[in-house]
Amino acid sequence: MSHLPSRGGPQTDRPTLTRHPAWQALVEHHRSIADSHLRQFFADDPERGERLNAEAAGLYLDYSKNRINNETIRLLLDLAGNCGLPERIDAMFCGDAINTTEKRAALHTALRAPAGACIVLDGVDVVPEVHAVLDQMATFADAVRGGLWLGHTGKRIRHIVNIGIGGSDLGPVMAYEALKHYCQRNLSCQFVSNVDATDLVEATRGLDAAETLFIVCSKTFTTLETLTNAKAARAWSVAQLGDEHSVARHFVAVSTNAEGVAEFGIAPTSMFGFWDWVGGRYSMDSAVGLSLMLAIGPGHFRAMLDGFHAMDEHFRGAPFGQNLPVLMGLLAVWNTDFLEAQTQAVLPYDQYLKRFPAYLQQLTMESNGKHVTQAGARVDYATSPIVWGEPGTNGQHSFYQLLHQGTPLVPCDFIGFCQSLNPLDSQHDLLMANLFAQTEAMAFGKTADEVRAEGTDEALVAHRVFEGNRPSNTLLAERLTPFTLGALVALYEHSVFTQGVIWDIDSFDQWGVELGKLLAQQTAAELASARAPTLTHDSSTNALIRRYRQLRKESP
Ligand code: F6P
Repeated sequence: MSHLPSRGGPQTDRPTLTRHPAWQALVEHHRSIADSHLRQFFADDPERGERLNAEAAGLYLDYSKNRINNETIRLLLDLAGNCGLPERIDAMFCGDAINTTEKRAALHTALRAPAGACIVLDGVDVVPEVHAVLDQMATFADAVRGGLWLGHTGKRIRHIVNIGIGGSDLGPVMAYEALKHYCQRNLSCQFVSNVDATDLVEATRGLDAAETLFIVCSKTFTTLETLTNAKAARAWSVAQLGDEHSVARHFVAVSTNAEGVAEFGIAPTSMFGFWDWVGGRYSMDSAVGLSLMLAIGPGHFRAMLDGFHAMDEHFRGAPFGQNLPVLMGLLAVWNTDFLEAQTQAVLPYDQYLKRFPAYLQQLTMESNGKHVTQAGARVDYATSPIVWGEPGTNGQHSFYQLLHQGTPLVPCDFIGFCQSLNPLDSQHDLLMANLFAQTEAMAFGKTADEVRAEGTDEALVAHRVFEGNRPSNTLLAERLTPFTLGALVALYEHSVFTQGVIWDIDSFDQWGVELGKLLAQQTAAELASARAPTLTHDSSTNALIRRYRQLRKESP
């Protein structure tokens, strides 16, 4: 089978994925096992639960409850090799311009490289720069946490408000919630993202501006929502403190755009930088994580980076058959393109991970929600699944009905921890019992005969049947620590990358967000004009704008 060369730039010589022999072999193979049930897979291979698993950086992955057998894995690994995954991994870690449409590297792995490492990009070792910013963040965080950095009136900072959106919000807020157990509790953190003023108003309600520090977090420092909220926050803060000079003690910025930051009125010494080779959704371990570092402290932040790095090393070095991100990425391709699952549920059995599904939505869907290959050809296969989820056990009492008996097939990732951070009687056992039970119920279900054997009224038998055969992965770790969280995030980052390589798409651009932004700018001008403008949209949009303008005028 021909090996497809790949490194850096678009693979113009790469044949269409679906015509490749490695893909065709999977199509054939799928046909041969399409009617098999997970009950059968386990009956044929009773030890598969002991075998189809892998472990790295404190995370144990059980993937035995997927609709696969040994041959499926062999063929998926063959596909990975033929799509040039080893070379693409190398290219990413080496800083090649793998984000081809934006002509830049995707070097987030350098953000967690240890101080002694050397990663050269355009002739410069970026590792010392990364650690210089980490040190700057740590000095600042220690000063705020220790009461050395005071507000304009001499009061201690007690509230942090991070203003950012997308990658400048979802990572920090997810990790802040995930690591709340490790937070300094006399320092509250709020996250404002939405241009809906309610977000800022509610976040700052009741706060004393003299004790409040805003972090304006934006890679580009041009994002409408963030700049609008930042200006409103500055007005709120200055109005309470009565002095424009107070901005220096109450506003810091995280950005790659020093000019934009200076224009906003934040001094260069209060800016924490990062680099264009860090994608927004891959940035929570850069200065974008400043709010998190303030909350958990530099030591825990560095432990989180160690977790990221441990998973990076595993991804880069482990044989693909035992490589967690590779296996999860290939299983996602299998479920999406061969089982035709259009969505994927992420179900953390840990309340601290309540924002993890939302974080993964951007990571996965902004990365792989693409319809053309790197060379610009329309794909003839499905790319990213829709990712969604809620913590267990809450989800069990809302949407799990559909997971068990609905018509769509929804592969699930279950995530659980063996030790609770808040042990209370036997509640953790109850929580985990539910996780294990759900994976079992989804895989094996309950047949009509089993339902009948329970003495069920015949009229209800069909309603009480669980077909099962719902695929799932289970991720287990000892305890939710900063290290484990870092490893978990890196696992999903690299799984998403693996999927993108197979699908031959650029996982690091996001052109799909542009059109809406452009139209919103035009429409905002139409809403702002005092006299009714001539509207040139379609009839639906025109009518909606007219109605809005009319009712807005009439509202109290
Ligand atoms: O509009 C999408 C996006 O560009 C995301 O990719 C990014 O994370 C977010 O906006 C915020 O961008 P910035 O950090 O530049 O404000």
